[in-house]
Amino acid sequence: MLAVYAQSISRTDPLSGLVVGERPDPEPQQGWVEVELKAATLNHHDLWSLQGVGLPESRLPMILGCDAAGIGPDGQEVIAHSVIPSPGWSGDETLDPKRSLLSEVHQGTFSERFTVPAANLVPKPEGMSWETAASLPTAWLTAYRMLFTNSGVTPGGLVLVQGAGGGVATACIQLGAAAGLRVWVTGRDEAKMERAVELGAEAAFPSGERLPEKVDAVIETVGAATWSHSVNVLRPGGAIVIAGATSGDAPTKAELTKIFFRQLRVIGSTMGNRTELLRLAKLMQTAGIEPVIDSTYPLADARSAFERLESGENFGKVALTA
Ligand SMILES: NC(=O)c1ccc[n+]([C@@H]2O[C@H](COP(=O)([O-])OP(=O)(O)OC[C@H]3O[C@@H](n4cnc5c(N)ncnc54)[C@H](OP(=O)(O)O)[C@@H]3O)[C@@H](O)[C@H]2O)c1
Repeated sequence: MLAVYAQSISRTDPLSGLVVGERPDPEPQQGWVEVELKAATLNHHDLWSLQGVGLPESRLPMILGCDAAGIGPDGQEVIAHSVIPSPGWSGDETLDPKRSLLSEVHQGTFSERFTVPAANLVPKPEGMSWETAASLPTAWLTAYRMLFTNSGVTPGGLVLVQGAGGGVATACIQLGAAAGLRVWVTGRDEAKMERAVELGAEAAFPSGERLPEKVDAVIETVGAATWSHSVNVLRPGGAIVIAGATSGDAPTKAELTKIFFRQLRVIGSTMGNRTELLRLAKLMQTAGIEPVIDSTYPLADARSAFERLESGENFGKVALTA
């Protein structure tokens, strides 16, 4: 079958190890089922994998991809939840220290057919497009948990999203606005900042700029480049919810004094659990939210999709269709 996989690892030139080619058909293990791919979306995670983050050479070749929607057993239309708990784990799977995401230990979703634990399938809401469904399991689920489980901000509260155009960032703007939060955004690019406002952000500011008002929470996935700004813009007692560090995880200043003196909270957030994915899918349907899809490519042209994501020029999700 046609698949998009990592053949080798390169920290400096991740796309050099990317192959679009034939891989053997998957063979579901006990309790797992096969899904026929309809659409998948890329995440920064796929670039990290090609750089060896969470994916050692010993596991190669590895089919990439955390996100997908397709046709499950008995012909149901399904979304695949990407967090794979260890055998015997019960409770919130994001707290399982031995969990993995599809494409880390088990083969990922960028192939004509892939396998997933039967318990990880979630029904695709009726009428939802394949690209929308395939956007939910990673970026959108992460945004959902950051905003609604971890930030503590209620409707009318003010949230700053660092980074205007990323998959998680655009999801936070759309979900936050739909839920009645006031959403401010920072960006490095004027056009992306304008688009963020069109999407529902109340205001957009150049990256690092002083804000007119302190915010209740910051949604942080950029990391080192924005860390000090995230600390400085919070009201006393406010929260930084952090789920990523795209620009690096070693900021020049940790800002420890400001964090304790102003009683700020730093809350780690990773993906979301199956219940949150079900609720997210329901919210998308009832609120009529359509994720911003930057571009869509056929699976056979996945290299162009990776080039688009790597360029950083995307606004919203980059999708693949089978
Ligand atoms: N913990 C988890 O479960 C989880 C889940 C999903 C994602 N993540 C992590 O979250 C991060 C974002 O993921 P994604 O898929 O949304 O990535 P993406 O689509 O590639 O977006 C990258 C984002 O980072 C911003 N950015 C990058 N470098 C920057 C810099 N130097 N200064 C300011 N902004 C910068 C971009 O802002 P502009 O639009 O302004 O360029 C954009 O919003 C990644 O590190 C990913 O690994 C973690």
